[in-house]
Amino acid sequence: MRAFSQAPVLFPFIEMILLFCICLSCLSRYSSAKTNDGPIIGVLAQEVNSPKPNRSTYIAASYVKFLESAGARVVPVMINQTVEEYTALFNAINGMLYPGGGVSIISSGYQRAAKILYELAIQANKKGDYFPVWGTCLGFEQLTSLTSGNTVLSYTNTRGGSLPLNFTDEIKDSRMFKGFPAELMKDLASEPLTEISHRWSLALLSYNTNDELKKFYKVLSTNTDGKTEFVSTVEAYDYPIYGTQWHPEKNAFEWTKPFIPHSRSAVKTTFYMAEFFVSEARKNFHRFESEEAESKALIYNYSPVYTGNKSGFEQIYFF
Ligand SMILES: *[C@@H]1O[C@H](CO)[C@@H](O)[C@H](O)[C@H]1NC(C)=O
Ligand SMILES: *[C@@H]1O[C@H](CO)[C@@H](O)[C@H](O)[C@H]1NC(C)=O
Ligand SMILES: *[C@@H]1O[C@H](CO)[C@@H](O)[C@H](O)[C@H]1NC(C)=O
Ligand SMILES: *[C@@H]1O[C@H](CO)[C@@H](O)[C@H](O)[C@H]1NC(C)=O
Repeated sequence: MRAFSQAPVLFPFIEMILLFCICLSCLSRYSSAKTNDGPIIGVLAQEVNSPKPNRSTYIAASYVKFLESAGARVVPVMINQTVEEYTALFNAINGMLYPGGGVSIISSGYQRAAKILYELAIQANKKGDYFPVWGTCLGFEQLTSLTSGNTVLSYTNTRGGSLPLNFTDEIKDSRMFKGFPAELMKDLASEPLTEISHRWSLALLSYNTNDELKKFYKVLSTNTDGKTEFVSTVEAYDYPIYGTQWHPEKNAFEWTKPFIPHSRSAVKTTFYMAEFFVSEARKNFHRFESEEAESKALIYNYSPVYTGNKSGFEQIYFF
């Protein structure tokens, strides 16, 4: 009798534990339904200057590290694929990054891929399928041409250096800088924390006189080469589309130029920019059709090559 008498006391206790565990698993399922904590971001490859066997296109490894540092995995997006192939890939990834570089934004494999993926992103976002796109330097320039349908850039003396950002009033309700610590914003506005190395800029005057660009992008910062004031950071009003003429990925990961800033605030800038974009990709729920297809597509299938002693990048993935 005695031995059994404890049973009714024990059962409710076990039930409570079970219930608690079930609730916990509900909770975790609930939170994973709201954000995609395994975001995979496509990074676009581009043509190399002088192709060699198996080295016709490349991605600088710093863009990959940039995204990985904030919790994303990367898929290299090759040039010269068919629309069907890009569409299938688009439906498997959670965001797209157009890196800097040196190819044509009017006629190159990079441009053709960027255009197809941009149009897919616009269509998807219009239907409520949140798909973020980021352009850095050449990628930013490519975005201005895709959005305006024109070449709108001006030649500037901006070949290599670092600058503070001249923030606009739009910064107050920007999505991009919302999570930045106040102190870092102060440093960004006063210290040369943003590396620039480009020839073509979107002059503020061109932006102000271009209806397509003005309707589409909010200007968050500008800079000047002493002659021309140009747009240096944008975010789209109605789409998760972002662009920087400067290089957030370099501060933490590139060492080949003496003007790349590496101070604590400079490296924080790399991280907070990456954190912002990867958190945008967590709002997308595209996925590969199988784990096998996913693992075949990931950048882990390739090895970066050390090129810091002979190029502007420490490490490069060649394809
Ligand atoms: C190029 O890549 C192919 C397949 O990945 C490989 O079999 C071949 O040896 C490579 N060629 C060179 C020159 O590296
Ligand atoms: C891409 O296509 C162009 C034009 O057809 C061709 O010249 C180029 O070699 C191709 N590049 C790669 C990497 O497939
Ligand atoms: C910052 O932007 C303002 C307004 O756009 C402009 O008047 C000013 O000259 C800019 N300053 C610098 C240092 O670029
Ligand atoms: C750069 O470093 C690599 C790896 O150590 C080496 O193979 C290559 O010869 C070096 N190139 C130059 C130009 O120093």
